Amino acid sequence: MIWLNNLIALILPLVPKSLVKLFAKQYIAGETLEQALEKTAQLNRDGLGVTLDLLGEDPGDISACTRALGVYEKAIEAIHAKGLTAGISLKPSHMGLKLDKAFCLANIRHLVEAAAQYHIFVRIDMEDASLCQDTMDLFLALHEQFSNVGLVIQAYLRRSIEDINRLLDLRANIRLCKGAYYWEGRPVAYKDPDIIIESYIYLLEKLLSKGCFVGIATHDEKLVFQSLALIDRLGLSKDAYEFQMLFGVEEELRQILIESGHPIRVYLPFGEEWFAYSLRRFRENPKMVGYILSNMGNFLKNMVKKF
Ligand code: FDA
Repeated sequence: MIWLNNLIALILPLVPKSLVKLFAKQYIAGETLEQALEKTAQLNRDGLGVTLDLLGEDPGDISACTRALGVYEKAIEAIHAKGLTAGISLKPSHMGLKLDKAFCLANIRHLVEAAAQYHIFVRIDMEDASLCQDTMDLFLALHEQFSNVGLVIQAYLRRSIEDINRLLDLRANIRLCKGAYYWEGRPVAYKDPDIIIESYIYLLEKLLSKGCFVGIATHDEKLVFQSLALIDRLGLSKDAYEFQMLFGVEEELRQILIESGHPIRVYLPFGEEWFAYSLRRFRENPKMVGYILSNMGNFLKNMVKKF
């Protein structure tokens, strides 16, 4: 649906940020760590694990990375102190990958080490394809030293088969997703949704059959079905995988999976930098464009009335 993505890209900059925020709220725990911890406790009570993600990418200066590092340190301490079932997820660009690779590696190593003492898991998110190799290298360096660190593989990338082949023998802990950076070009990414689904299942089968723990990150019911069929065919126990879903998305499907006894983890973003993340979620939810446009109409009518 490239036309839809283009339409959204065109109109969203025109929409007042306060209106965007109204819709963004459904995907985000809040702007503070405290709100995120409260929501985590609530999700834990409902039987769900959580991955906390501090929003923000590509901050542009070292001090912003250091501030983000500080919030993650507090999150790790709080997860431990409150006895929450939660890990953290971080974006390498947020930790300074585009500024200085060694600085970024030191930041992530520091967090993985801090989390390791409490057996808390750290997931390294995958961003756009230009950062894929550096992210892979970061992960490989950390995995040599720590077992509480995992990576994300995107099924839409053509390189993912080779990447997975490198990770199988390491028994790496992988979150498998379709991939969210819709603008990737055809030379690096599959553009056909059916091929992305086939790629996902191919990669999932390789990972699960070689004993890698997989976070099956999707809300696509076709993929959920195919994953369940694969889990059944391979005779896997419930500690070999978990389903992962984004906060605020497909809660009905999430509930169905919980009631069937499957382990589920919710990806729970928080923080002030909610704009870029929310735009990616809007693009994946065509209905949202309609809501935003009709609300923008009302918003403009009210503005006109005021004058
Ligand atoms: P798809 O987009 O086809 O959605 C399937 C169905 O789910 C839709 O038809 C709709 O019903 C529902 N749905 C999906 N998104 C919705 C929304 N925003 N609002 C309402 N309904 C919605 N990507 C990445 O590049 N790097 C990463 O590190 C991660 N990390 C990550 C963690 C977790 C836990 C998840 C679940 C996803 C990611 N992603 C990601 C995002 C992922 O790549 C992908 O963009 C989204 O999950 C959407 O893909 P689906 O597999 O859900 O299919």
